[in-house]
Amino acid sequence: MTFDLKGKTALVTGGSAGIGKGIAKALAGAGAQVMITSRKAEKCEAAIAEIGGESDFITSHIGILEEAERVVDATLERFGSVDILVNNAATNPWAGPMIDCDVPRLDKTYEVNLRAPLQWTQTAWTKWMQENGGSIINIASVGGFATSEALGVYCMFKDALMHMTRQLAAEMGPKVRVNCIAPGLIKTDFAKVLWDGPRGKQIADMLPLGRLGEPEDIGEAALYLAAGASWMTGNTLTIDGGELIRITGEPPIEE
Ligand SMILES: NC(=O)c1ccc[n+]([C@@H]2O[C@H](COP(=O)([O-])OP(=O)(O)OC[C@H]3O[C@@H](n4cnc5c(N)ncnc54)[C@H](OP(=O)(O)O)[C@@H]3O)[C@@H](O)[C@H]2O)c1
Repeated sequence: MTFDLKGKTALVTGGSAGIGKGIAKALAGAGAQVMITSRKAEKCEAAIAEIGGESDFITSHIGILEEAERVVDATLERFGSVDILVNNAATNPWAGPMIDCDVPRLDKTYEVNLRAPLQWTQTAWTKWMQENGGSIINIASVGGFATSEALGVYCMFKDALMHMTRQLAAEMGPKVRVNCIAPGLIKTDFAKVLWDGPRGKQIADMLPLGRLGEPEDIGEAALYLAAGASWMTGNTLTIDGGELIRITGEPPIEE
């Protein structure tokens, strides 16, 4: 299967670094016009030089309510369509037990990681996709399938994002497909505390595929969801090097 996105426009939140940049590169590589957005102009400028093709940026904080409309309008003006929306940017202001999370940090996680993907999807739908069709890709996490010592609040909203994917897919078909990716540990700045140093090698050694993920691994999956996957909606692709299916240290079975 060859993936061809010529004539299509993708809008990627958090496209200036890490996984978002990996996705933007993959989509641009298949011929899409790509608009990236993040808060810092210098990061965006450097990223579009790397992404290449027909790419551009608009700085934006996705948690601010008015931003979705401004960015979708600017993308329509610049490229003429919004065929693919990748809800990728996220935050994690609290590392600790959920039971101790204060309201400002709970609200911030909700606003950026859950409310923004819904609101940006609503805006893309109203302004383009309802009439012209399209594809939404949400970036969740394998953390959404499990409990966690320090990332419980983050993981709760990632699980909710997977459910939002199912709900919106049911509502937005047949014109719009809505899918999700649940990455495992990917070597980006966001997750550096989890993979930097000896811990990274220890985790890699536990994985069936023997290495940590790179942003390009998620870029490939996003390209499939955007340009292939024509009979797939409401689903989550787990891209984790086998983390979820690895054999854990259960006691041996007695003969
Ligand atoms: N890395 C992993 O191991 C991993 C695993 C599972 C899931 N994920 C998910 O993958 C996605 C990307 O993570 P990453 O690891 O690539 O992170 P990253 O390397 O820190 O990149 C995050 C990007 O989002 C932008 N951003 C952050 N907050 C923003 C905001 N409020 N508004 C607009 N842009 C914002 C950042 O740019 P600015 O600073 O310029 O805003 C940057 O472009 C997230 O949804 C994350 O939860 C990551």
